[in-house]
Amino acid sequence: MGGSHLCYGNGGSLSTGAEIASENIERNDRKVWTVKRSLEWASRYLEKRGIENPGLNAELLLGHLLQKKRFDLCLVVNQDLSCSVRILFQNLVKKRAQHVPLSHLTGKQDFMGYSFKVDPRVYIPRPETEILVEKVLQAASLTRGRKFMAVDLGTGCGNIAITLAKQLQRSKIWAVDISPESLEVARDNARLHHVDKRVEFLRGDLFTPLTRLGLQRRVDLIISNPPYVASTQMRNLPPEVKKEPKVALEGGEDGLSIHRRIIRQAPRFLNKTGLLALEIGYGQAKIIKDLISAQPQFLPPKIVSDYQGKKRVVLTRTIFLRSKFWFQQEVKERGLRHGLKFYGLS
Ligand SMILES: C[S@@+](CC[C@H](N)C(=O)[O-])C[C@H]1O[C@@H](n2cnc3c(N)ncnc32)[C@H](O)[C@@H]1O
Repeated sequence: MGGSHLCYGNGGSLSTGAEIASENIERNDRKVWTVKRSLEWASRYLEKRGIENPGLNAELLLGHLLQKKRFDLCLVVNQDLSCSVRILFQNLVKKRAQHVPLSHLTGKQDFMGYSFKVDPRVYIPRPETEILVEKVLQAASLTRGRKFMAVDLGTGCGNIAITLAKQLQRSKIWAVDISPESLEVARDNARLHHVDKRVEFLRGDLFTPLTRLGLQRRVDLIISNPPYVASTQMRNLPPEVKKEPKVALEGGEDGLSIHRRIIRQAPRFLNKTGLLALEIGYGQAKIIKDLISAQPQFLPPKIVSDYQGKKRVVLTRTIFLRSKFWFQQEVKERGLRHGLKFYGLS
């Protein structure tokens, strides 16, 4: 639980025993609060309150206040904190100890190397979702050269849509969310990343706002990281996660109600080799595979695991008459794997 510290000890050599013992946040403390001493204090304070990786949290919070990268704190360990920074830091650490998510305290979250503004109005982007985007970018390389049309369902802070727009220069993305608060944050992020002309944000329930745009059968990609926590599991979520919007987390009775609707409706919007890419939760791969396999318009899905070995991403493509013939030929002549490779799914 102690986490790894950058370059300050764990022994608290610069802190008096009484301070650490009482854990007082004394505003009148006249002793010099160096970076090192502050990090030691914060790390212990957080550890005692059950925060995972307390050292890392302390470093990221102080780095945020000093506008320094975590590793650059090494260079200033003996620097004194000004009184105002010290008080701000202590307040942030106190809030973190109450399980306020780190990203809510810093106001940002990195995703695929880009920094996104986040706050309690939106879901905080997770590293696992980077796998979804990476796989899509690999598969999308097949269409390089022509305009790429994509839909991001449940866009949250816009991290997926904006990353795709940054990486695929000739793309147009429609990003949908049911939450108007999420869309406010997402629009800000699109402006910050200078892709607001190519990402169009729409408020509504899944495909509803797309119908009136006449996008039927025209979309190259539908990507989504929908809510997938089963209703019965909501109360078991960690305290940090409970501070995120419920609408971003809860996926109905078995957690898959939104996935079901997406899988059912996606073929209406995808073009003849359109890609459907979904993030899934732990233990959901089998049902999702069955749902996709039951739809004749889809190729057999490919499941991709995350770095912990958990099945995390599902990819499939639509298959219409001519392409179906192609696929069957490939499978007959060279096997299923090669057939899928033809579609960028292997
Ligand atoms: C798990 S979050 C994903 C956010 C972001 N795309 C990401 O991957 O980090 C799910 C998002 O879906 C949105 N959402 C939930 N139900 C929806 C619905 N029926 N239609 C559209 N968006 C929905 C939520 O508001 C939330 O922003």
